[in-house]
Amino acid sequence: MTAKKINTYGIRYLGSKSKILPLIIDVIGNLNKRDNKVIDVFTGTTRVAQALKMHGYDVTTSDLSWASEAYSNAFVCNNGSVDHLQKYIDELNQVKPTADWLTNHYCNVDIEIEKKVYVTETYTSTKNGETVTKKRKVKDENGEFKFNIETEDVNIKVWKRKNGMKADAIREHIETLDVEHWEKMYLISCLIFAMDKLDNTVGLQQAYLKGWKSDRVDKDLKLSLLPGVKGTPGNHIVGSALTIDYQPASVAYLDPPYTAADYSTYYHIWDSITKWDKPDVSLKTNRRIDRVKSGDRVDKSMQSPWYSKRKALKATQELIDRLPVKYCVFSYSDEGLISYDEMEALCKKYKSYTFHQQAHARHVMSRMGAGGDEADNAKKKKNIEYVIVIEKEEETC
Ligand SMILES: C[S@@+](CC[C@H](N)C(=O)[O-])C[C@H]1O[C@@H](n2cnc3c(N)ncnc32)[C@H](O)[C@@H]1O
Repeated sequence: MTAKKINTYGIRYLGSKSKILPLIIDVIGNLNKRDNKVIDVFTGTTRVAQALKMHGYDVTTSDLSWASEAYSNAFVCNNGSVDHLQKYIDELNQVKPTADWLTNHYCNVDIEIEKKVYVTETYTSTKNGETVTKKRKVKDENGEFKFNIETEDVNIKVWKRKNGMKADAIREHIETLDVEHWEKMYLISCLIFAMDKLDNTVGLQQAYLKGWKSDRVDKDLKLSLLPGVKGTPGNHIVGSALTIDYQPASVAYLDPPYTAADYSTYYHIWDSITKWDKPDVSLKTNRRIDRVKSGDRVDKSMQSPWYSKRKALKATQELIDRLPVKYCVFSYSDEGLISYDEMEALCKKYKSYTFHQQAHARHVMSRMGAGGDEADNAKKKKNIEYVIVIEKEEETC
């Protein structure tokens, strides 16, 4: 029987697994494990890692995202005793607001961006006896499409200025505190959680709302102690799952991105707050410059094969093969880049596999109709989330 709801903590996040935690915990609980070690390879908000820790597992988390390091230190990499940090929360809530990187880039800021506008011409063609007028791009003498550079005025409204100034001052003050690494990361998480409650977005940072859409943005930013999660302190590794040198464990839980939505651009502000390197920015969203893919300053270490239909399946097999575990437990959706048939064919390469499933509410982008209605999917209210267990051959562990 599947366990009851499990309470965990996290910001709004695409593909967060809060609703299927009981199934994941049940499935892992029933495996014939060698020890209680589990790796949450694509940990994101760490909700699955938190649930595992609560259920007695010794958890290692990893993710490409820098902010996941903050969340994991807050909820996974400590023994759950966090009350002593209240004095820092009080101190941070008292700091004097001062405009800095966040205020100057995300708080009612006017920017001018340059964009390419392609030169077009109209032409007529005849089909089935009917003449239709169409538009096409014009090429230059070298065969390249002709374009003009035009400027566009954009106003970026992610937080009210008063809250941006408060957040800037708090983040700067965290740098001055004499605390341990996990405590610093915990306090950064407290800041991110407080900012997530007041922002003018639908929870994603690859586009912002044009007007101030809800009263929530007017509330005053205030940090609160995040709950401690009791259990064995885990550890966190920042980086790509395909290069991290993991220690052996019984189980790897794998929840890779299953669409082309790139987390490094969807949540770039949380990563910048964690790193606090105040980078140059670009594009309509003032995205950190090293995440602008067309630019020459792009940080290639943030690229991931799981955002590409061509590469995701091969990367998944490579990952299963390299993980030093007995079982790989996947969260999988058949609406993603890897088809059901491809996933099943991959599973068949290993000693054994089992599919478990649960009907699941569709994620926020689908509810908004993102991706257009190409998808007859858009009409469906539920999709199926699978939990797949792959047992590897013993000798590969
Ligand atoms: C579907 S989300 C995981 C959600 C998580 N289970 C939760 O409940 O919050 C996928 C995660 O994979 C991470 N990611 C993408 N490519 C990666 C890679 N090559 N190595 C490690 N993490 C990666 C993303 O940053 C994102 O946090």
